Amino acid sequence: MSFPIQRPRRLRRTPTLRSMIKETTLNPEALIAPLFIVPGDKVKREIGSMPGQYQLSVDMAASKASQLFDLGIRSVILFAIPESKDEIGSSAWNPQGIIPRAIKAMKAAAPELIVTTDLCFCEYTSHGHCGIMKDGVLQNDETLGNLVRQALVHAEAGADLIAPSGMLDGMVRSLRHGLDEGGFSHLPIMSYAAKFASAFYGPFREAVQSAPEYGDRKSYQMDPANFEEAMREVALDIEEGADIIMVKPALSFLDIVREVKRRFAMPTAAYNVSGEYAMIKAAAQKGWIDEQRVMLEVLTSMKRAGADLIITYFAEAFADLRQKGLA
Ligand code: PBG
Repeated sequence: MSFPIQRPRRLRRTPTLRSMIKETTLNPEALIAPLFIVPGDKVKREIGSMPGQYQLSVDMAASKASQLFDLGIRSVILFAIPESKDEIGSSAWNPQGIIPRAIKAMKAAAPELIVTTDLCFCEYTSHGHCGIMKDGVLQNDETLGNLVRQALVHAEAGADLIAPSGMLDGMVRSLRHGLDEGGFSHLPIMSYAAKFASAFYGPFREAVQSAPEYGDRKSYQMDPANFEEAMREVALDIEEGADIIMVKPALSFLDIVREVKRRFAMPTAAYNVSGEYAMIKAAAQKGWIDEQRVMLEVLTSMKRAGADLIITYFAEAFADLRQKGLA
């Protein structure tokens, strides 16, 4: 009987040995926490399909922001449930709107926190599509001007990073140009470069009431079947001036994350979306999986695939575990 010379198990024998050969480590600095901002005061309303996630009023969001910063989280990304919606989403560029107010309150509460804002119109339009609609079709070029207005309002309020999520052609170029003209050439853009038309956004749309009233987003978000198209989208956004490239969702698109990192060597983000969070929460509530271990495994898979940054509803839970020495 011939024994193998190579025995991979030798290095798995003890916890110390295993810790020495660990290839991927998670750190709270790599996690960005999404927050949902609602009008009002002292509001903290749990989102039904996202247990542990809340709609927060500006005051509550500001204290959450400093709490997250103290836990080691460096950035939050803000989404709005605005006071009012209309056909074109004009409350998105109101300087007194909910996001500019939240940015200011957060920067006051945690000056070093990187306040990232999502730029899109689906939360602000009455029909729930990501811009101006005509005959059921999203109007690309007409929407770009409004996107720049929204970005400038966020920039003026003190945002540190902006993240356009509408999958409009030319959005990064328009934003870069508009920001530079407006005196914000230092403000980086994290582009939702490869964003797929995914069923995993379901709980998010409940959280911000942004489900499209008619039709779907398939004429602007990508077909989950497409790999090379994702590479072309990323290449375009880099040419147009994106500083960070995002792939969204994360879990069913780890091959895309991997290849984007390998091919473009840019700072790369993966969005661990609402449905991915909800699945784990639901199965854990039923006692079918170990929530903590599954969370760590999922976040590690994204990091291992090549994500430098992970936008995740688990940010606080992970940072909490880390602080307690449990992760
Ligand atoms: C669009 C936007 C969406 C998400 C982030 N930005 C939803 C969509 O495209 O319908 C989804 C995030 C999630 O599911 O966690 N503004």
